[in-house]
Amino acid sequence: MIIFVKYIILNICVFASGFGSNFRAIYRAHKKGLIKSNIKLLISNNSMCGAVLYAQKHKIAFEHISSFKYPKADELETKMMSVLIKHKIDFIVLAGYMKKIPDSILNKYSGRIINIHPALLPAFGGEGMYGLNVHRAVLESGVKCSGLTIHYVDKEYDNGKIIFQKSVKVEEEDDEISLQKKILKLEHKYYPKIISEIEKEYG
Ligand code: GRF
Repeated sequence: MIIFVKYIILNICVFASGFGSNFRAIYRAHKKGLIKSNIKLLISNNSMCGAVLYAQKHKIAFEHISSFKYPKADELETKMMSVLIKHKIDFIVLAGYMKKIPDSILNKYSGRIINIHPALLPAFGGEGMYGLNVHRAVLESGVKCSGLTIHYVDKEYDNGKIIFQKSVKVEEEDDEISLQKKILKLEHKYYPKIISEIEKEYG
């Protein structure tokens, strides 16, 4: 018996500000066919970041949209919206994006923006909880497990409905770096998987 899995091809825009290892994992999964959707566009506020360099190398369209280029918030918002419309984006994936998403975009893409966080939300989330700050807080608290959370994005930091979580054991010998490394490895495995699951839900 042949089973047909229905999925829809989305036009995905990834937002990233930093190293870009999740962006790379997502793009690689697309190249391998695990993610069917188009990785249409990268938006970054940091024109020199790893994610942008990767996009340039792989000829993925990218836009540098920062408050330096667009000091007025409404100009930035208008530019972002016009770029998303121009590329016919219908789904947004945040992968280490360090800025807040403007309200008009949250409204237009309500239920179609996801984020990944390197801890088990709702613990260790919220403003200021990014990068090594998260892992430091986890270690200082003494909890015995941490992990990753993939969630929908709403107006509050790290607050939207949780889609997926994976836990890892915090070992005695773990420090911020080793914990970050362990969790990032899992992020690269599960973020592409969850995106491919979402495509099927839309199908
Ligand atoms: C990841 O730990 C992710 O959970 C968080 O930001 C980090 C981004 O890392 N939101 P990278 O830029 O994808 O390497």
